[in-house]
Amino acid sequence: MARVDVIRVKGGAPLTGDVTVGGAKNSALKLMAVALLAEGRSVVANVPRITDIAIMAEVLRRLGCDVVLDGTEAIIDVPLEPGAEADYDLVRRLRASICVLGPLLARRGYVRVALPGGDMIGSRGLDMHVSGLARMGAEISNEHGFVIASAPAGLRGTKIWLDFPSVGATENLLMAAVLAKGVTEIDNAAREPEIVDICEMLNAMGARIAGAGTSTLIIEGVDGPLKPVRHTTVGDRIVGGTWAYGAVMTRGDVTVHGVRPEFLDIALDKLVAAGATVEPGDNRFRVRMTERPRHVDIVTLPFPGFATDLLPMAIGLASVAEGSSLITENIFDGRFMFVNEMVRLGADIRTDGHHAVVNGRERLSGAPVRATDIRAGAGLVIAGLCADGVTEVGEVHHIDRGYPDFVADLARLGVEVERTDVPEPTFDF
Ligand code: EPU
Repeated sequence: MARVDVIRVKGGAPLTGDVTVGGAKNSALKLMAVALLAEGRSVVANVPRITDIAIMAEVLRRLGCDVVLDGTEAIIDVPLEPGAEADYDLVRRLRASICVLGPLLARRGYVRVALPGGDMIGSRGLDMHVSGLARMGAEISNEHGFVIASAPAGLRGTKIWLDFPSVGATENLLMAAVLAKGVTEIDNAAREPEIVDICEMLNAMGARIAGAGTSTLIIEGVDGPLKPVRHTTVGDRIVGGTWAYGAVMTRGDVTVHGVRPEFLDIALDKLVAAGATVEPGDNRFRVRMTERPRHVDIVTLPFPGFATDLLPMAIGLASVAEGSSLITENIFDGRFMFVNEMVRLGADIRTDGHHAVVNGRERLSGAPVRATDIRAGAGLVIAGLCADGVTEVGEVHHIDRGYPDFVADLARLGVEVERTDVPEPTFDF
């Protein structure tokens, strides 16, 4: 009989102690793609040890790079002429592999990347990636499940307005624009810390980008080749935020190291509104809670708004808070998929479109549930800490995609937790 991994947690104990967070998944994956822009050895340091990084390494190997993952370093040797095709078998496992589109088009003048298809948390289009590249002079078509882009005479700088500050579109357009002829201006660009991280690596390679962290990016295309560099990935604010919400929900006391608290301004402010004490420090912060959290209303928005990736933690907090909270999701239409699992844990949640009304309960009630995506998975484990009895979270491969050492960190923070495999019944016809 096949066996599958589950995480079991016993509710009741507070999270207490220190936890160190590594590099941001959503930065490291793109920094690995940035490496494609220069021939030679680039090193991306502080990469998290998670499945997605291993898949991205394989994407780059298939493009002719030599990639070694050594501890928390990705050592990437890029050939003079990298390949130009990314196949469906990898892209479907890692939607983020679409970020090779921009750099490969810039370097090779041609690229063929499989369309990633649907995703559990929403429809997730690529229209802004495509229309931006087209404005820069690329010819783009969609054939047999691939997006094919070519710009034999090179890309040219232009002005691009994004309908929405898409993280992925901003990244692809940035990576394409650094080698274009002339100046590209991206308006309504994403402002996430991960975008700033990418701009810093690109500038260290010789690119000329101004405005990182603002809504207007000005990229002056450079003529000569970029040079390989070593770059350290920014800390993972979402993992840091997960621990902060866990500390408050369990009425604990956690110091998070490796994340700048200013990247979590609104998320931490909501915790203060719920009754917590937050002490910001230099690349660390401490979160303490002694009473039952008060209700807070939360709305997800692009950075610097409340991150959609912390939506499950917002729902978790509201589920154990005193009173009713209104939680609104504005980025992904499928984020509330996991609400049914929270209801299995006894949470009182009603959703209508992109709003959720959550009536807090004193305690949740342990039950078997399943992770529906990375963040929902982590959120369910944390919710299990506030439940009577044992909560068993299945489909933990989702959690492995974003949280390195999750179970070991939880154990260090003083809760009863184990990862184990259980038989998975099969039903033959
Ligand atoms: N969108 C379009 N057209 C486009 C691009 C985006 O309609 O051309 C829509 C999407 O469908 C979505 C919204 O715009 O509804 C936001 O998409 P965005 O491009 O900003 O997000 P992304 O690049 O696909 C990254 C992270 C997500 C994170 C979002 C928002 C990576 C690999 N993924 O996705 O992280 O939630 O930004 O901050 O960087 C996760 O780590 O669990 C995760 C889902």
